[in-house]
Amino acid sequence: MGIKITGTGSYAPERILTNAELEKMVETSNDWIISRTGIRERRIAAPNEACSDMACKAATNALAMAGVAPKEIDLIIVASVTPDKHFPSTAAILQSKLDASNATCFDLQAACTGFLYSLECANALMANESNYRKALIIGVEKLSVLTDWQDRNTCVLFGDGAGAVVLEKRTGKKDIGGILASKLGTDGKYCDILQVEAGGSSMPATHETIDKRQHFIRMEGQEVFKLAVNAMSKACRDVLESASIRPEDVRWLIPHQANLRIIKAVGTKLGMREENVFVNLDKYGNTSAASVVIALDEIVRSSKVERGDYLLLTAFGSGLTWGATLLRW
Ligand code: ACO
Repeated sequence: MGIKITGTGSYAPERILTNAELEKMVETSNDWIISRTGIRERRIAAPNEACSDMACKAATNALAMAGVAPKEIDLIIVASVTPDKHFPSTAAILQSKLDASNATCFDLQAACTGFLYSLECANALMANESNYRKALIIGVEKLSVLTDWQDRNTCVLFGDGAGAVVLEKRTGKKDIGGILASKLGTDGKYCDILQVEAGGSSMPATHETIDKRQHFIRMEGQEVFKLAVNAMSKACRDVLESASIRPEDVRWLIPHQANLRIIKAVGTKLGMREENVFVNLDKYGNTSAASVVIALDEIVRSSKVERGDYLLLTAFGSGLTWGATLLRW
């Protein structure tokens, strides 16, 4: 029968960090940040605001749109690189906060591609006669805790936030919406170009790792840039081809919101018109696993999508990981 999205929701923390404020923190300028990235401001979570708190707000909004009660949810997947704790999973913590006590819960880590990986995972778990009938899929990040606020190469890029979707089995043949095709990829030989080096089993936290600032994001920006454009455009072409849909039939390309130049390059490579490429990174920066799903929620809530429209979601992230998912609304 297939799976469709019946509700979307998102949450952005109240605190806005502007480029003007960043000018006072590192040697940068509003002009540089806007011209090289497209970002004007980003949201920063409160010190006592964990990913599960942001996820709970986004999930509550998505459940309300779907008209689904938390206890009806039988599967929760949370994608994040900034979980509340090493363990238990953020999904388990969220289950308790939402009172979704009938759900099987786990976290999934595929960096900025995490939401697309989670969608595909849920799609497979919910297929055919499976007992999973209603799922909550969440992308959430508190990247401000992994950001080196003394490193101008990275600190201007990231933000915090959460997005959620409710997935349900399609009910009948007339129901045209759903996940049509998906393509995911990973190339582990690029692990080193975008990473947080310390804090895991390969380099546990010590005073020295803290002194060397090894618990923060380190990135070779230009290398990531090139790989991102190629990986996303290829994944998009692959899913369009497998569903026999032309780029001009797509109502919205919803790309990972990392850099406006990357987004434009992917749109151009696919031959899509600018007005069909969704951009909101000016307001949020790069929110990693949350970025595509926050964008999807904005599109849905501003009535920019109609029943039957094709939506093409694409992302890339540390790993490197990448993916594209074609939805019919
Ligand atoms: N303000 C002013 N100057 C800066 C800043 C800044 N914030 N950051 C870097 N510069 C300088 C550099 O030091 C360099 O100076 P130099 O020429 O004197 O050496 C110059 O600007 C150019 O630097 P580049 O790195 O070549 O700049 P580029 O045009 O490549 O833009 C950027 C950098 C924005 C990081 C870009 O490469 C990019 O967006 N890459 C992809 C990043 C990305 O999407 N990452 C995904 C992360 S997702 C995750 O896993 C959380």
